[in-house]
Amino acid sequence: KSVTAAVVVGLLATACTSGPESPSVTASGGGGAGIGADGIGDPYFPRYGNGGYDVSHYGIQVRYDPKSDQLTGRVAITAAATMPLRRFNLDFTGLPISRAVVDGQPATARQQEAELEITPAAEITGEFTVEIDYAGVPQPIKAILGEGGFLHTDDGAIALGQPESASSWFPVNDHPLDKATFDLAATVPDGLAALSNGTPEGAETADGWTTWRWAERAPMAPYLATLVIGDYRITSSSHKNRPILTAVPKSVPAGGPAETAMARTTDVADFLETQFGPYPFESYGGVVVSDPRISYALETQSRPVYGPSFFRAGGDGTWVVAHELAHQWFGDSVSIGGWQHIWLNEGFATYAEWLWAEHDRKISVQSQFDQVYGVMDWSVPTGDPGPANIFSGAVYRRGALAVHALRLTVGDEAFFDILKTWTTERRNGNAVTADFISLAERVSGESLRPLFDAWLFGTTKPPLPKP
Ligand code: ARG
Ligand code: ZN
Repeated sequence: KSVTAAVVVGLLATACTSGPESPSVTASGGGGAGIGADGIGDPYFPRYGNGGYDVSHYGIQVRYDPKSDQLTGRVAITAAATMPLRRFNLDFTGLPISRAVVDGQPATARQQEAELEITPAAEITGEFTVEIDYAGVPQPIKAILGEGGFLHTDDGAIALGQPESASSWFPVNDHPLDKATFDLAATVPDGLAALSNGTPEGAETADGWTTWRWAERAPMAPYLATLVIGDYRITSSSHKNRPILTAVPKSVPAGGPAETAMARTTDVADFLETQFGPYPFESYGGVVVSDPRISYALETQSRPVYGPSFFRAGGDGTWVVAHELAHQWFGDSVSIGGWQHIWLNEGFATYAEWLWAEHDRKISVQSQFDQVYGVMDWSVPTGDPGPANIFSGAVYRRGALAVHALRLTVGDEAFFDILKTWTTERRNGNAVTADFISLAERVSGESLRPLFDAWLFGTTKPPLPKP
């Protein structure tokens, strides 16, 4: 039920772009009479997110001093209760809280591991606001899936990670089912940049500190929120009436492979528009970081973050740009309703690498499919890989194989019609695998369950589809 509210909020925030609600996306509500559950009901990560309410907006103010690693923050959350609430949870990994206020009244806050329990002065119904003040030294999130959360660097910090990271730097309903708009004011010592998602809203300086403002006006899953602080060379201009802002560490020589790849951001986005439909957000960009602990890239909304390993002299790093930009449609605009559905993000983003390689370097999609099809291990089902395998080849490369198997089955015209219908109907919303299968059947007019059963859920090599 809380999904309905999230979709309605998305609709209001973005005026008429949201798709139909998914009947198969469900969030859990209560953890007892009047008590919001401590998880949103994700079968892979039961404590992620919370029940009983839906956030529509986060207003975040942080001040960070790289010398002491100290973060001081205030978050103002606008939310709607989906049941009467005497108590509810936020996800927050342990920075001490000095003040919690609900609807203007002091509230009680209790912190336990990654959960923050808020007991308001009075039971909540309908729309409400929460304000929380906190300060301390933020920590990375120790997950089975590698480094995430708030990392301190030589010159600043990087807040980044999937499947969770936001809870390391602000109190949040940390699950993609609860998308919300964001604005951020980040105050850092003069001379440093504080980079984030969405549209740059300027920077002002006072008393040796500079406050950078950012606004993400399309609903965003919290794991897509990022904050990168440090000494960066920023390039900004506009493209198709949207701001584009990219940044590369000043420690990296100007004009090198990272900047060359960043400069192709809009070329890649324009190509992907021809495949997937209109670019879904109001700004573009990318941030390259130099910290080797960031061994991956992440599709942080409108402005992906790229680890240092992707851009090397003589190499072509645009494949990863194609991957992260494809996520703007698949993952960010259309977000998953649960982590078991992650192939809807990664399978399509990997397929976009194949499309881009064909477009840019004349390496046919079919040859890339053939190569991967020949060596794939089929033992892990793409559509339900298990929490330890959400970033595995079964999700990425086998997911892309499934996408191409669909294309071979329905033909190019129906295939690209399916992709564009999906990104249009589901824009700013959530969806699950069953929704994609239904939509593919509706648009193509074909019965596709056996195909998806074999390619997404089977554990043996599926035969090549016959057109
Ligand atoms: N979604 C990211 C990508 O494929 C991958 C993030 C991997 N995360 C990690 N902790 N290793 O672009
Ligand atoms: Zn990806």
